[in-house]
Amino acid sequence: MKTREAHTPLVIEPRRSTSVGFLKELLASHSSEIIGDIAAHGAILLRGFDIGSPSSFEDVVLSIQGLRGIRDVFMSEPGRTIVDGARFVLHTNALYKTGGALQFNCFHGENYHVPDVPRFVSFFCEVPARLGGETGLINSAGVYEDLSEGVKARLQQRAFLANAWPVAAVAARYRISAERVEAFCAEVELPTGLVRGERSVLLYKPSVLEHPRTGERALVTSFSYEFNHLGLPRALRRAFAPDYAAPRWTAHRLAWRYPWLELLGQTGTLLRAPRYAIGALYRSLTERGNREPDAADITARIEGAFAEEGVERLVRAMRDRFSCFSWRRGDVLIVDNLKMAHDGMPGFGPRRIRALICNPVSLPWSPGSPGLYAPREDGSRESVGARLLRFGGAPLARATGLDVAARLRARLRDRAIPPDPIQQAGHLIVHRLQLRPVAPA
Ligand SMILES: [Fe+2]
Repeated sequence: MKTREAHTPLVIEPRRSTSVGFLKELLASHSSEIIGDIAAHGAILLRGFDIGSPSSFEDVVLSIQGLRGIRDVFMSEPGRTIVDGARFVLHTNALYKTGGALQFNCFHGENYHVPDVPRFVSFFCEVPARLGGETGLINSAGVYEDLSEGVKARLQQRAFLANAWPVAAVAARYRISAERVEAFCAEVELPTGLVRGERSVLLYKPSVLEHPRTGERALVTSFSYEFNHLGLPRALRRAFAPDYAAPRWTAHRLAWRYPWLELLGQTGTLLRAPRYAIGALYRSLTERGNREPDAADITARIEGAFAEEGVERLVRAMRDRFSCFSWRRGDVLIVDNLKMAHDGMPGFGPRRIRALICNPVSLPWSPGSPGLYAPREDGSRESVGARLLRFGGAPLARATGLDVAARLRARLRDRAIPPDPIQQAGHLIVHRLQLRPVAPA
């Protein structure tokens, strides 16, 4: 597999001591260097330590000074719930598979469609997939560098519409009145307006972010959905096809060619979240986005910046700037969300990856904002979701039948697979090792 990202992720392995205590001490005493490494390489991989549970994963990541977990995300997607026994660790999604499945998804900067964009997103491998299921990374600073000057100028010019929610839907979700929702939006400077005649909360985003440490400019968006109308998923599957040429990928290749076959791989999702499964199938068949507001006015969305030129050059850049590695049980990956996009790659077999997001980034959200923005490095900011709870909102009206079923299933699954045995610590020495990116095996 050819790629220009031979230095991502930077791997940190123990030479002797594999204990969590040692690792936490190391991360706490070298936090500034670690954050510098994450920024320089785009991601670090902690491998070979005795990290056996989500709470241990949480302790390790949050031992880095300056990292603060995000628990409450404004209008977070369904199924994005906290794992039992942890404070911040999330199911990547409790309702459907986010990697290691038949689908070839696209890539995304975490939380593009909501205001609470994390500076860091970290992953923990409890169970690797039997085949594939890597977490693919795309250096979106490199992608931005490779775009044409015309597209760069259009991206820098203005913020684009990322999402919109009817005020009534926000009010119902947080069990407060519509007036309180409007008052809250005014307080946190989230614009409101009419979408198809309905009062709505609007979210605009700058999509070129200047990195607070490296000064690099990166295209930070969701490549999933935002470019569907321009045929990005199909072009991306074509670009990655040589990596999936081996006979073991036959079922996957068939599913990409005949999207209705994906239903076979989604029987569990169909039962748990039928609306999602049918929506995903519809999007695959029609290559359409999943967004509701202003779909007719593409100039409001980021795809408008690419309408003239198309996405071929973007897709080439994404493939060139891609890297991945095979997960091992106990691995922890910490990704810089201001310069890397990610997604779960196709695969087969049970796969359990947990997520933890940290440090909400302050961004302007109004339609008149510029498209280029330089966020400050500020780990003390509170998420919009947390502020809404303080404002009087309630977390979720009540657990739905789906939530209860998903929790029960996750608990049964957690019991079925015992964690790795804890090894004893030795001396306190680590060494760093660079992994070459590997092709999906
Ligand atoms: Fe994600």
